[in-house]
Amino acid sequence: DRNAATLFGMPLKYISLITLAVQNAALTIIMHTSRTTIDPSRQYSAASAVFVNELLKGSISFVIALYRVDSQPKRAGSSASSWSRIWRDIFSSDCWKLSIPAILYVFQNNLQYVAATNLDTATFQVTYQMKILTTAVFSVLLLGRQLTRMRWLALVLLALGVGIVQIQSTASNDGHGHEHHEMHPFVGFMAVTAACFTSGLAGVYFEMVLKNSQADLWVRNVQLSLFSLLPALLPAVVDVHAAGESFPFGLFRNFGFWAWATVWTQVLGGLITAIVIKHADNILKGFATSLSIIISFIASVALFHFRVTPSFVLGAGIVLGATWLYNQPQPPSSPTISFSASS
Ligand code: C5P
Repeated sequence: DRNAATLFGMPLKYISLITLAVQNAALTIIMHTSRTTIDPSRQYSAASAVFVNELLKGSISFVIALYRVDSQPKRAGSSASSWSRIWRDIFSSDCWKLSIPAILYVFQNNLQYVAATNLDTATFQVTYQMKILTTAVFSVLLLGRQLTRMRWLALVLLALGVGIVQIQSTASNDGHGHEHHEMHPFVGFMAVTAACFTSGLAGVYFEMVLKNSQADLWVRNVQLSLFSLLPALLPAVVDVHAAGESFPFGLFRNFGFWAWATVWTQVLGGLITAIVIKHADNILKGFATSLSIIISFIASVALFHFRVTPSFVLGAGIVLGATWLYNQPQPPSSPTISFSASS
């Protein structure tokens, strides 16, 4: 049973979901701070940060995968070393499958910087919850998952709540709240919307690859990072050249405390996300992160003097209510609606 894994006696499923909620709130605030409080002329390259993130995450996953291969009993009669076994696992005949989520995540990770740069943290977080809807639709389409009418209602409410927050933000946010930086809410919204699509599709695709094969999670993660490296590197190299720097050291231009804090928080998030997809699923992941709204909302008021408007409270309230509704226990015979019968 995949729900049975425990850590310190607690189900890994819940530990990973709670950790992800906290990590999400932290990332939103750290990334926003790193992009908006630094003078634009001394700004680090977001594309480089995405590349470094993949490099670190892939390396950590590789070390874990190697450790796991080492601790497995050798197959009878096999004299293969750990290195050759891990090599064979990583470059398996189906490793190409990870190229699809890898490319989607590179887009998403870059879009996330555009969004965090142009929206205040609370608005960004609430709007990003739309990925629950895209994830649900892709789960139904690709995994053949069925959802009850109640759950579809929860998803529609979620979209409504996000819409209300979006209207208030476009109307009342003049984008001049920061000393060094002018925000463009429309650009931010377009970026978030696109990121919601890649998030849903990539997450469900990764879940499908993971749950339809025996391969180890950490091997899958190494494959994911390997396929990300090239598409992540290309825009980073363009940035390095545009800044008149030389490769590879130019990648780390203006990498100060906040840039590293953002990258490491993202590395942590990527690793936890993988664990959540394995031990829970993508739809639950979305609802867990919607809880991080409260955490980052309080922090936004305290740190960035975010103005609390009645429509923000209403929209965020509907999002949280939808979360609660979605997670109500399902009666065994509830009517379900699905787009596809395959599973
Ligand atoms: O917003 P969402 O939850 O879709 O973000 C997923 C994040 O987790 C992305 O930044 C992606 O790069 C990362 N990820 C990962 N390894 C996985 C799955 C996702 O690093 N196996």
